[in-house]
Amino acid sequence: MKLGVLISGRGSNMVAIAEACAAADFPAEVAVVVADTPAAAGLEKAAAAGLATAVVEPGEFAHRGAFEDALAATLAHHGAEGVCLAGFMRLLTGRFLDQFPGKVLNIHPSLLPAFPGLDVQQKAIDHGVRFSGCTVHFVTEAMDAGPIVLQASVPVLATDDADTLAARILEQEHRLYPEAVRLFAEGRLSVAGRRVLVDSD
Ligand code: GAR
Repeated sequence: MKLGVLISGRGSNMVAIAEACAAADFPAEVAVVVADTPAAAGLEKAAAAGLATAVVEPGEFAHRGAFEDALAATLAHHGAEGVCLAGFMRLLTGRFLDQFPGKVLNIHPSLLPAFPGLDVQQKAIDHGVRFSGCTVHFVTEAMDAGPIVLQASVPVLATDDADTLAARILEQEHRLYPEAVRLFAEGRLSVAGRRVLVDSD
């Protein structure tokens, strides 16, 4: 499966996916990495890995729909069949999602449905949860609310600040996202209501 990976920043999850794709038996390849800003540090990492890159900036379009059309056209131009949001800090509407129905994944650094949105490691600490983690889910119009594919948990320690917790979660993200992409690309995921069923052969 050819993947388009969308980023807004550092791109460490994009690198984890690209590294997994480099293995001979992995059922997906990164066709293009698209950022919504030229300042995304992940663009250089993608180029260094020999991946095609593109920048589609919302500010260059008259309205969000035109931005989403350009984003979808860029992905289609590179033959992307599936889309991985990897630190892509922007909501997508049905106008985009309808062009890749059931084919858009996201990773979020909390155990959804707890702590959707931003600054979620600090929110987890402030709330006093003993465990947090990360979630790979299908993307719907509602923020961080689509059917859950895989989750991994990590302990929240008394000594944690947002940075130490984020680092512990990120380690799991880099393991979990490629695992979810593998299942996705092998066609082993199906959605029944809110639940994602994994066909384990
Ligand atoms: C990751 O922790 C990812 O889960 C989070 O942004 C970070 C991006 O890091 N995404 C969200 O918060 C989306 N709601 P990366 O650019 O190094 O992959």
